Amino acid sequence: MPRTVLVTGGAGFVGSHTCVELLSSGHEVVILDDHSNSSPEALERVAKIAGRPIAATHVGDVRDRRTLDAVFTRHPIDAVIHFAAKKAVGESAQIPLAYYDINVGGTTALVSAMHDHGVHRLVFSSSCSVYGDTTIVPLSEESPVAPTNPYARTKLTCERILADVCRHVPELRVLALRYFNPAGAHPSGLLGEEPHGVPNNLMPYLAQIAVGRREELSVFGDDYPTPDGTGIRDYIHVVDVAEGHRVALDHIDDEPGMRVFNLGTGRGASVLELMRAFQDASGQPITYRVTDRRPGDVAELVADPSNVYNAWGWAARHDLAAMCRDAWHFQRQNLYGYAP
Ligand code: WQD
Repeated sequence: MPRTVLVTGGAGFVGSHTCVELLSSGHEVVILDDHSNSSPEALERVAKIAGRPIAATHVGDVRDRRTLDAVFTRHPIDAVIHFAAKKAVGESAQIPLAYYDINVGGTTALVSAMHDHGVHRLVFSSSCSVYGDTTIVPLSEESPVAPTNPYARTKLTCERILADVCRHVPELRVLALRYFNPAGAHPSGLLGEEPHGVPNNLMPYLAQIAVGRREELSVFGDDYPTPDGTGIRDYIHVVDVAEGHRVALDHIDDEPGMRVFNLGTGRGASVLELMRAFQDASGQPITYRVTDRRPGDVAELVADPSNVYNAWGWAARHDLAAMCRDAWHFQRQNLYGYAP
């Protein structure tokens, strides 16, 4: 059923790809983004790929109640997908208060405004980092949570707040999606990952090395208890993550209350394995140097994706080679990202 969906952070990496998926599936899309880590150009590209316009774009802070009231007053919002947040593990250890203010404060402001405007469907962008430094592989939604950094703690705090609010507001439906590692780009080469400043994440850093914007990769530690000593993550194509959000929206009315789902592939790759896969996809040599571990990092995070498949009949389709191919295609087409 087509809905009018408010997408906070809709100009960002996962948000913009999700907006393409929503528009292509017949939904109306309203975006709220402050462009602190995104570009308005991405939204031009979203409409171009989808072949349909975004209904409206509001530039503002998700913590600002007047901005939120204006959005909910002007548009018949049926559901919200909440991406707007800061999301770098390493950075969160340096500016924890900003992470709590934006990630938790932004979520409580948004849910308060939703409630006051009679909007009761929320897909929440959570994170596999809530599982922390675990030896469990693969991780199910029932695996214990033990976040090791402020970013992960903000996401778990938001999940707990949402669960409490669902107990208090019976008509509220929340799907919390714990992403593993979104990576890659839209196959058109028009949309991709272009963080402001130096990339915190591995894939965009590799892409920027391959186009000559960065010198060499710092491998944050090779003394983890993994086969090659480097960190293992479950990289999932951003187009799969976007599709997973659309599918979640299709199922949001299945049950009241809050449900948590992992969004991953079930396949892990180490830093060195991803580096080699990117070299193969780009044909560009990547040099690296092993440095100290990054505070807050953990050895291995790999999903058990079976709950999503059992509940919704959906699974990620793209492999690591496709992620590297698409990330390289985007970076080569957009040497400096969305900058003119
Ligand atoms: C991956 C691996 C690093 C950069 C991300 C998102 C977070 C969440 C989970 C959605 C680790 C190593 C990295 C570099 C390196 N996703 N690395 N050199 O930390 O797993 O978190 O996924 O919510 O939002 O940030 O991803 O890409 O930063 O790190 O060696 O220059 O690569 O140590 O093992 P991470 P990442």
